[in-house]
Amino acid sequence: MGAGPSGLLLAQLLALRGIESVIVEARSREYVEARIRAGVIEHGAVQTLIDAGVGGRLVREGLRHDGIYLQWPGERRRIDFPDLCGQSVYVYGQTEVTKDLINARLADGQEIYWNASDAEVLDLETDQPLIRFVDEQGHLRELRCGLVAGCDGFHGICRPAIPDSLRTDFERVFPFAWLGVLAQVAPSTDELIYAWHPNGFALHSLRSEKISRLYLQVAADESVDAWSDDRIWEELATRFQLDGWSLETGSLLDKSITPMRSFVSAPMRLGRMFLAGDAAHIVPPTGAKGLNLAIADVRRLAEAMTQFLQKDSGELLDAYSDTALQRVWQSTHFSWWMTSMLHAPAPEEPDSAFVRQLQLTQLRNVTSSRAGATWVAENYTGAAYG
Ligand code: APR
Ligand code: PHB
Repeated sequence: MGAGPSGLLLAQLLALRGIESVIVEARSREYVEARIRAGVIEHGAVQTLIDAGVGGRLVREGLRHDGIYLQWPGERRRIDFPDLCGQSVYVYGQTEVTKDLINARLADGQEIYWNASDAEVLDLETDQPLIRFVDEQGHLRELRCGLVAGCDGFHGICRPAIPDSLRTDFERVFPFAWLGVLAQVAPSTDELIYAWHPNGFALHSLRSEKISRLYLQVAADESVDAWSDDRIWEELATRFQLDGWSLETGSLLDKSITPMRSFVSAPMRLGRMFLAGDAAHIVPPTGAKGLNLAIADVRRLAEAMTQFLQKDSGELLDAYSDTALQRVWQSTHFSWWMTSMLHAPAPEEPDSAFVRQLQLTQLRNVTSSRAGATWVAENYTGAAYG
């Protein structure tokens, strides 16, 4: 269920192992291919995409990054990934990963049902679960499956199909959001800049040599309409201010607000249905872990499904939820930690002055101690996850 990166990559990995799948997607192909999401891919996730036969454009057009900057007023310090942990990351939009996966699947002549409505997953605790939906032409379809993968994102139907009595949800909603813009301007930086500022966090990312991706911490209930292009550029310039450096501006191609949430649902299984990606967990985007976590789930799930279908052993499937959740919690912790360190609390919060000093101290600590910086590098690149 779902043609996001999780569902598409799982289907691709299964196809390479000779296992047939059908993808059911609620939205249109155009919609799925236009969604703008994050764009940092861990070393190991890049390898998974290459192994899945969809790494060609990623390796050609993606930009290898050997570090990030952590900034606060008056200081911009680089964390050097290869030096600290021997790995790097790639910057390549999730939107592009999605397009590459869709192209690979359709080129293979495999099925995707777009614009499916009224989907249901039934009989999950039997050995023949059922997916029922209404296809684009209005016909009721029923698919009897060997296994169901719930890759239908945070708002999907698969997680809620696990009864509340069997499921525990863990959640933190952060009291701020990100305003994200895509700008037609060459990046003003060679590496991503994560900037702490008393006005709030700012992130300078990029998509190509001509396109920059930038974010500002805003109030949780902020409306995009409150942010004219001029106001956005002014605020970005304030938060990234550093002597001897300047921010280039350009026209804005897209503006959107991302809520900030950590969410984990356990277990990631009911009977013959297995959850992967955003269907089971959400991280705030500060650590750039969302897509990487989805890829890690799916790599594990593909192997487990293959063992079950081809070797008649449920060992890996039985272990899937527990092993996937260990990695999920590692990334949940790192994303929460980065988020907590970098987002200045609003001045009206009772202990905001205290928290701000702790945040600045944490930033100095992790950038001045090799052990601290190594921990950041290992988590950011995924080297910590084996
Ligand atoms: N039936 C079919 N498809 C559905 C349904 C449904 N009832 N509900 C949702 N979907 C589809 C959505 O339209 C979407 O295309 O499931 C897909 C889920 O895709 P994503 O939300 O992209 O989730 P996932 O594939 O797990 O990818 C995780 O996305 O949000 C980012 O940071 C996150 O990078 C991570 C990645
Ligand atoms: C992005 O490029 O969109 C991006 C990069 C790093 C993050 C989040 C988003 O932590």
